Amino acid sequence: MLVLLTDTSEIARRTCEVLGTSGAIRQINLKQAPPLLTDSVEGWIFAADLDQEGTVTAGIRHLRERALEQPLIVVTARRDVKTSARASALGATRVHEISNAAGLLRDPIFANRFMAMPSPFSNDPVLMAAIAGTVAIVTETMTGRATTSASEDLNTAIDAAIASLQTKGVAAWLKALEAVHSPTYRHVLQVLAFAVSFGTLTKLPPPLLRKLAAASLLHDIGKAKLPVEILNRADRTAPGDDAILQTHVKLGFEMLRAYGERDFDILDAVLHHHEYMDGSGYPHRMKGAQIRPLTRMLTIANHYANLIEQRPSRPVRTKQDAYKRLQAMGHKLDLGLVATFKGVVR
Ligand SMILES: [Fe+2]
Repeated sequence: MLVLLTDTSEIARRTCEVLGTSGAIRQINLKQAPPLLTDSVEGWIFAADLDQEGTVTAGIRHLRERALEQPLIVVTARRDVKTSARASALGATRVHEISNAAGLLRDPIFANRFMAMPSPFSNDPVLMAAIAGTVAIVTETMTGRATTSASEDLNTAIDAAIASLQTKGVAAWLKALEAVHSPTYRHVLQVLAFAVSFGTLTKLPPPLLRKLAAASLLHDIGKAKLPVEILNRADRTAPGDDAILQTHVKLGFEMLRAYGERDFDILDAVLHHHEYMDGSGYPHRMKGAQIRPLTRMLTIANHYANLIEQRPSRPVRTKQDAYKRLQAMGHKLDLGLVATFKGVVR
């Protein structure tokens, strides 16, 4: 078990989002009294605002239980003299900046935990590397590292994902995703898989296929700005939840623009992946030909991923059942494209 010490700061929120909701991480709020730890502890993570008075003292109180051989990872907002001194005072083994979340995930203490690949995929280094690469990109973009479709890291990750999906197929990719704990990440990587297969099936020219892949990876980054409680709520029945959720498309568009994204197809797909052909979508209630072809493809991949996703609130759906539900959306989607999408579901 890993022990994650947090407060209510942004740094704690982002760390929880990055690490997902693995059952093997026990989260403890620094404001509470140190609880009795009965399971064996493999390591500690400290993710709290080091600028706040009393944070270090509270940390030291909690870390009294820590044995020397147990590593302590301190997650910080930035790296400067004051932060480094406070991390040292806590006894940090390593310090990671949250803006380099990929580095955090690659830390030996997390590397195997986040992607605990079930057999036989642990023997497939190409598939593992492709998934780890895309996870790193999603993490970086969601935690504020400026990444655009022109970034070398993003293109390397996309090329590996496309190659892996085209050689191993969607089923192997989806099976491997079962090991990803965070529902947000799993969703993004499923959409990527369906979109790339869709684009391959429709023989999209490689530059367009890469755009579609980039848009799939980035389409929900606006959710990084939304409260985790809303994102994780299984039944979104609380008043106002939907309106808040819908803001993610504009937030994502603005984040990408702030990162310097200039590709119109990608910006459009991120902003409009919830528009419907009959004008009933959001945020601009666009209709028919106003919605660009690449965006329509992303919308279909996104909906299908939502329909097939396993949820505690409903029985598991077969591929065929999910596809029937996609067809049942009728004129909301591009009917010709939905017919073609059947080839992805096969
Ligand atoms: Fe979305």
